Amino acid sequence: MQPQKTVRSVDDLAVRGAPPLFAEPLHVGRPNIGDHARFLLRAAAVLDSGWLSNNGPVAQEFERRIAEFLNVKHCVAMCNGTIALEIATRALDLKGEVIVPSYTFIATAHALQWQEITPIFADIDPTTHNLDPAAVWRMITPRTTGIIGVHLWGRASPVKELEAMAKEHNLRLMFDASHGFGCSLKGKPLGGFGECEVFSFHATKFFNTFEGGAVVTNNDALAEKMRLMRNFGFSGYDNVIYPGTNGKLTEIAAAMGLTNLENLDEFVAVNRRNYACYREAVASIHGLGLLVYDESERNNFQYIVLEVAPYFPVSRDRIIDVLHAENVLARRYFWPGCHNMQPYRSYYPHAGLVLPNTQVVAERVIVLPTGSSIGVEEIEGVMSVLRVLAAGGA
Ligand SMILES: Cc1ncc(COP(=O)(O)O)c(C=O)c1O
Repeated sequence: MQPQKTVRSVDDLAVRGAPPLFAEPLHVGRPNIGDHARFLLRAAAVLDSGWLSNNGPVAQEFERRIAEFLNVKHCVAMCNGTIALEIATRALDLKGEVIVPSYTFIATAHALQWQEITPIFADIDPTTHNLDPAAVWRMITPRTTGIIGVHLWGRASPVKELEAMAKEHNLRLMFDASHGFGCSLKGKPLGGFGECEVFSFHATKFFNTFEGGAVVTNNDALAEKMRLMRNFGFSGYDNVIYPGTNGKLTEIAAAMGLTNLENLDEFVAVNRRNYACYREAVASIHGLGLLVYDESERNNFQYIVLEVAPYFPVSRDRIIDVLHAENVLARRYFWPGCHNMQPYRSYYPHAGLVLPNTQVVAERVIVLPTGSSIGVEEIEGVMSVLRVLAAGGA
C-alpha cells in the first residue's frame, strides 16, 4: 500500500490534523498465505473426500511433513496452540507449580491456570527477552514440577542452561515454540528440545493453518498419550481408554498447512528483506534499537521488535498513538506482562518486584508491521514518522 504523503516535520503528522500516511491499516501479523490455487485444489479434494476431521489423510500427511521438517519423530497436530499447550502439560503430568516467563503471550500462563496448575513467573534477560536461567533457579520450590521456556520472537530460549537445571532438580522441561517455526539453535531446528515443544499455527504466526497448533516430540510414549488426549481418549471405535478433550486439527486446516509449507522460503525472504530495511533505518536513529536475529541461525524474521530508550524524546505509548493515527497499527507486545493481567495480578500483586527486567522490557517494546503485505515503501513511510519523532516530539 502506497504511503499517501511525505512526512518531514511534525506538521505532517496525522496527530496534528494531516491525513494518515496509509489509507488502510498496516497490521502486525497479517497472514502469510501460500499459493491460492494449490490451496483451493486441496480444499476441493477435502470436500470431495467427505472426510473433514478426525485424523484424516490430509492431517496425517501434514503431521508427517512437519515432523520431517523439524527433524523430530512425532508431530501431534492440534486445533490451536493453546490446546496443544494444555495437552502437552497434562501429558507430562505437570502439577503444583510450573515456571514460565511473564513476558509472553497470555496463553502460556493460561494453559496452566486452566488446569489449576500454578504458573510461577520468572524474570527475563533484558537483552534476549527470554528466560534468565538464574531467575528461573530462584523460583524453584519443592512444589515445582516443570519449566516451560518460550522461544520468544523465534529466538531460542537458553536451552542448555534450562536442561541442566531441569536435570538437577528433577523437573520436566518443555518449550512454547509458538514463535519459532523455521528457526534453529546451533543449526538444529527449534522443536527438538526438551521433552516436547509446542507450536501455534494461528493466522498471525509465520506459518499458519488458519487456526492450529502441534506438539512435537521424540518420545514415543508421550506422543501416543497426546494422540489419545487429543481425541477424547478414544482407542478404536467404541473404546475410551484415557481422559481426553477435543484437540483435533481439521482437514481444511491441514490443507492450508501443506500449502503454506510449500511457500515457507518466500515468506522468509520477504520477512528478511523487511527486517534488513527496518534495521538499516533504525540504526541511524538515536534512542531506538531493533532486536537482532543471529544470522548464523535459521530465523523466520516474523517479528520486528523495536526498543525505545528512556531518553528518546517521545514515550513508547505516544509513539504508538502517533503511529496508529497514521494507520500503522504497531503493537505493545507483551505489555503489561502476564503478571499484570488477571487472574495473576490479583493472585500475586507484588510479582513485579521479582520481575524488574520484564517490567522494563514490556514498557519499551513496540512491534512493527511486517509480512508479505508490506514492502520497502511502507517501511520507509513508517520510518519517516519515527525520524520526525526522534527530531523532537509530537
Ligand atoms: C507464545 C505463544 N504461546 C501460545 C500461543 C497460543 O497459540 P494459539 O493462538 O494458536 O492458541 C501464542 C499465540 O497466539 C503465543 O504467541
